[in-house]
Amino acid sequence: MCGIVGYWSETENAFDILLNSLKKLEYRGYDSFGFATLNNRDLMTERKVGKISDTQCERLPGNMGIGHTRWATHGKVNEINSHPHKDCSGKIAVVHNGIIENFKELRDYLEKTGHTLRSETDTEILAHLLEEGLKKGMSLKESVIRISNLVRGRNSFVALSSDTGEMIASRNGSPLILGITNGKEVFIASDIPAFLDKTKKVTYLDDGQICCIGEHLEFYDFKTGNQVQKRVIEIDWKAEEAELGDYKHFMLKEIMEQKETLISAMNQNKEHLIEVAKRINGAKGVFFIGCGTAARVCHIAEYVFSKVANKHINYITASEFENYEHFLLPETLVIAVSQSGETADVLDALNIAKRKGCKIISILNNPGSSMERISDYTFPINAGPEKAVASTKATTSQIAVVILLAYACIENIKEADRILLDLSGKVNDMLNPRYEAHIGYVAKQVYKNKDIFIIGRGINYPLAIESAIKLMEVSYIHAQGFAGGELKHGPIALIEKGTPVIALIAEDKTKEEILSNAMEVKSRGAIIIGVSPEKNEIFDYWIKTPKVDEVASVIANLIPIQLLSYNIGILRGYNVDYPRNLAKSVTVR
Ligand code: AGP
Repeated sequence: MCGIVGYWSETENAFDILLNSLKKLEYRGYDSFGFATLNNRDLMTERKVGKISDTQCERLPGNMGIGHTRWATHGKVNEINSHPHKDCSGKIAVVHNGIIENFKELRDYLEKTGHTLRSETDTEILAHLLEEGLKKGMSLKESVIRISNLVRGRNSFVALSSDTGEMIASRNGSPLILGITNGKEVFIASDIPAFLDKTKKVTYLDDGQICCIGEHLEFYDFKTGNQVQKRVIEIDWKAEEAELGDYKHFMLKEIMEQKETLISAMNQNKEHLIEVAKRINGAKGVFFIGCGTAARVCHIAEYVFSKVANKHINYITASEFENYEHFLLPETLVIAVSQSGETADVLDALNIAKRKGCKIISILNNPGSSMERISDYTFPINAGPEKAVASTKATTSQIAVVILLAYACIENIKEADRILLDLSGKVNDMLNPRYEAHIGYVAKQVYKNKDIFIIGRGINYPLAIESAIKLMEVSYIHAQGFAGGELKHGPIALIEKGTPVIALIAEDKTKEEILSNAMEVKSRGAIIIGVSPEKNEIFDYWIKTPKVDEVASVIANLIPIQLLSYNIGILRGYNVDYPRNLAKSVTVR
């Protein structure tokens, strides 16, 4: 949800570095983009509509600057609403990620006091409020502290002033991370891949802090105004993990990486697994929460815990969590599932849980994220950077960690290891060129359809819903997932000759029933795509999956669906890495 970059150097030209960094954050928003640089106290800006990777830019001079790629919230997608935004004097430029909740009253106040606002955005008021501070004789730092306390909501921004020659960042909600090198240059960005090819030494700005960026970094708590000391830590991501390499799309690269990421997900601290399992077993209520695909992982967790640990856990879409607040006790466990660790609805839910004294566990991909910092225990899924907007490898790794946790609850982590090792070997064999070609062939049979339905039973029911999310977001075909038994209660009315129905089948007790459900729609004209270890005569097309343990069948069945979605999106001519209207990290409510 918007990407911010900033760069300061003693000698280097900032623009090329900002451009390179911003291209790596394109997945966060791709409606428009812009830059501001300082060249001998001249503030230069450039703003364009469209994707940064598709657009020619003019190189701006200067050794420090800021950049922004936008996912529009306030105001249309046009150049005027693109960041950076400037104050009346044109001497302050601001890039921003978040939503200013008291935007209206602040805008009215600024207009009444004579400021001319040019855009429809909430961001622009930050530049004018900073201008007001400077006019009142404040330093830029004091003015940043003042407005950081004034604006409500999750807001992070970086301001550049040609009057003072300074760059200052403020974080409250949306991530900002500093990349530190040799003291001669400093990076700041919404996500680490922006500077991963330059440095692995990072400092996370915490909520409620600002940072004055230059030769010496100074950090302040913006509530107290006190200076704070920060640690520099080294992260172990590899730069090439965030690059396309030989692949045309991140989505395909990340699907293929599942050959390795399932193994990395198994690399968990066993003591933590045991401690958390004890807490789950003794808890008064366990809630798994997440959004979108991560919420589907939570739904899958409900089946995994039931089957493996004979335990009922609740899964709740994070944006609905507040409705369950009255069930929360200090002995309740809340387990967040998230790739980014920054999703606003999940963070809001976790803050509710924290207030109620619950212990918080998280299953996350992004190291150092906001969720990690408010969790009592974190299980990193170790999938490496996931850049395609559609989550693939992070999803299967999250499910792998759920399986480990469920087995930890019955003190049998070894069995989870066995299941996951068996699965990852079979996934490795499955993802071969012949298999890819076959899925490409199946995609050709259905890519012109306007609807696709997916059915599953048992643990493959939440997977049917996840499959629909995958298909919709990259192919824009209307897709819906149902429990196999539900079709005849309404949706079957939508089945007509040639409607594709994907049946997700595992070698478990639901197999015969889901085949009957597939038959019910086939006899009404549906084309059946069976995703299963064994062929069946009712399938029009068969996508073979390996025979694995029942709880692992969701991973084995999901990977071909990810590939199918990818192929359909490509056949329909879409940019599967950057689907329309979406962004990778949803930091607004
Ligand atoms: C995944 O394909 C989706 N783009 C989306 O639903 C995503 O899973 C959701 O926004 C949650 O993100 P998170 O895992 O970063 O919290």
